[in-house]
Amino acid sequence: MKVLAILYDGGEAAVQESRLLGTVENKLGLKEWLESQGHEFIGRSRIMLFKDQCSSTLYKEGPNSDFQKHIVDAEVLITTPFHPGYLTRDLIAKAKNLKICITAGVGSDHIDLNAAVDRRIQVLEVSGSNVVSVAEHVVMSILLLVRNFVPAHEMIERGDWQVSDIARNAFDLEGKVVGTIGAGRIGYRVLQRLVPFDCKELIYYDYAPLPEAAAKAVNARRVEDLKDFVSQCDVVTVNCPLHEGTRGLVNAELLKHFKKGAWLVNTARGAICDKDAVAAALADGTLSGYSGDVWNVQPAPKDHIWRTMKNPLGGGNGMVPHYSGTTLDAQIRYANGVKSILDNYFKGKEQEAQNIIIGLGRYETKAYGQR
Ligand code: NAI
Repeated sequence: MKVLAILYDGGEAAVQESRLLGTVENKLGLKEWLESQGHEFIGRSRIMLFKDQCSSTLYKEGPNSDFQKHIVDAEVLITTPFHPGYLTRDLIAKAKNLKICITAGVGSDHIDLNAAVDRRIQVLEVSGSNVVSVAEHVVMSILLLVRNFVPAHEMIERGDWQVSDIARNAFDLEGKVVGTIGAGRIGYRVLQRLVPFDCKELIYYDYAPLPEAAAKAVNARRVEDLKDFVSQCDVVTVNCPLHEGTRGLVNAELLKHFKKGAWLVNTARGAICDKDAVAAALADGTLSGYSGDVWNVQPAPKDHIWRTMKNPLGGGNGMVPHYSGTTLDAQIRYANGVKSILDNYFKGKEQEAQNIIIGLGRYETKAYGQR
């Protein structure tokens, strides 16, 4: 059986640090195990970038890339959301043998899920594998925006010391209203971690209400209308999957309903927030800050406006590359999870229900939109 893993080049770091499992070098720790069972394992680089095709906004996966070459007869495809191999409907049409896609991590929007349904290709992810990793990053990001941390650190590196320039836009999280769009595994863990900060209120927006006991445990109130929800939040954090119902959800129209000077944290998926609308809202002070690790597309082009956008005081940018869910702790969990999904597949055993995004010809998850 041909197992194709589209990973990313880890370079020197991956040679020095064997726990960087999601790299071409370390192959999710799967190579020997797979080959000992007689499978052909192709662990390849995410893409081959053709420089002449690579404009400032568009990274193309070349027609001769390893991905396109090997997908035609692979039965199993493993990808990571961090440097995704984008499995489009066109590629799915070429992938005649493909039966199962496994996401090493959480979030499978880089696969055309509707095309996978049509072709009866299963899509599984390692649910829960990095949800604490992301929730911690979200809490950190909220704090660094609210407390105006990044400009303060940059000032110190520059050799300056002008406390008032920082303090004029630094606040406490205590007493603020924080709301999450999506209160699933990550969103709920964010709420749990915020409890000791004595926020004024924790609220959430999700078509799936939290079980009563869970909502009570964090004292979270559900708001059913999105505009009403954002208008109540000092901080909005986005923790829902990317699907037809969330693409561009935070756009110029919704931003009009945000509290003036709110902070927005998005570690879910870049395409949930409209790139230019967010940059404009930050520039005119509608938002005081935007932070996150996810971009539409990844890797983000060098001139992506989110790299350098600022609020009117020159701060408010907490962007980093996509790594919140790929700490070394998380990599062990999702590598083990991929192995267990593969093992079930080879042995014809039932998969854990929570890992199945797309089953045979249907969505099994309820988290990718209301269908
Ligand atoms: P989950 O499936 O446990 O929860 C998702 C929640 O979002 C569900 O409660 C669902 O009902 C809700 N939801 C879906 N559509 C919605 C909508 N239109 N409006 C409001 N709520 C909606 O998923 P989990 O584990 O919490 O992960 C969420 C997402 O976070 C992933 O799909 C992925 O895109 C992203 N993620 C990012 C990582 C990173 O490294 N930055 C790592 C892991 C996940």
